[in-house]
Amino acid sequence: MSDGPAPVLHAEGLVKTHYGEGAPAHAVRGVDLSVTRGEFVAITGPSGAGKSTLLHLLGGLLRPDSGRIELDGVSTDNWSEARWAVERRKRIGIVFQFFNLVSNVSVADNVELPALLAGASPKKARTEREELLAELGLDGKERSMPGELSGGEQQRVALARALVNHPPLLLADEPAGSLDSKGTREVMRLLSRFHQRGQTILLVTHDARLASAADRVISFFDGRIADDAALTDTAPPRRGGISGVLELRD
Ligand SMILES: Nc1ncnc2c1ncn2[C@@H]1O[C@H](COP(=O)(O)OP(=O)(O)O)[C@@H](O)[C@H]1O
Ligand SMILES: [Mg+2]
Repeated sequence: MSDGPAPVLHAEGLVKTHYGEGAPAHAVRGVDLSVTRGEFVAITGPSGAGKSTLLHLLGGLLRPDSGRIELDGVSTDNWSEARWAVERRKRIGIVFQFFNLVSNVSVADNVELPALLAGASPKKARTEREELLAELGLDGKERSMPGELSGGEQQRVALARALVNHPPLLLADEPAGSLDSKGTREVMRLLSRFHQRGQTILLVTHDARLASAADRVISFFDGRIADDAALTDTAPPRRGGISGVLELRD
């Protein structure tokens, strides 16, 4: 692990407690994690395990109480909110369960906006948008408003939006969570296709079957990594722990 390029993502000792109405929620209780370029990593675990909190920390949408995060070997320790926002546009695409589309602008504008904000020319933003929408089977939908699309279509627009700036890292939090099984298969197929082309993906899901599309499955339980089964050429997958998810491939 000493040679070679820096991991796309490296986190050490991440801790996050939520203070709300009732007792504090110790959502993330000491997480170390490295993701190498080109990996497709799934983080799976039961509802309430802390998966979303972890993903929000990794995308800079929440600050950890302690611990550190490096992106492409660059420490994020001193990044302000504004710096995170700028860097997210370049380095991290994020897809959530409920689409995160801007409801009152067209599909085309939803996809082009992040490119324009990142400094692309209007022409470049448009070309990227056209390519991605075609790729995602959304030809002819560019003038639609998000509310006119099916759930699966909206989620594909969200994917286009997250990928338009070619981020080295894609973070996806239950990206098929609100879809029917057809929509779910569609999203998973698209994630696999982008992965095959070299996209690094960190997918959070409570569904172990979806996780089995990844080449490394991390079981997350009670704020901690309970099992990390990397499927590499050199090391056989570690099984057991609480996961057993690898047996669930269909
Ligand atoms: N904003 C918040 N305020 C208070 N508690 C929260 C907040 N977000 C999450 N939690 C709590 O933190 C724990 C982990 O939640 P979450 O990260 O959403 O888990 P998961 O995504 O695995 O379902 C849960 O107990 C949840 O209730
Ligand atoms: Mg969640």
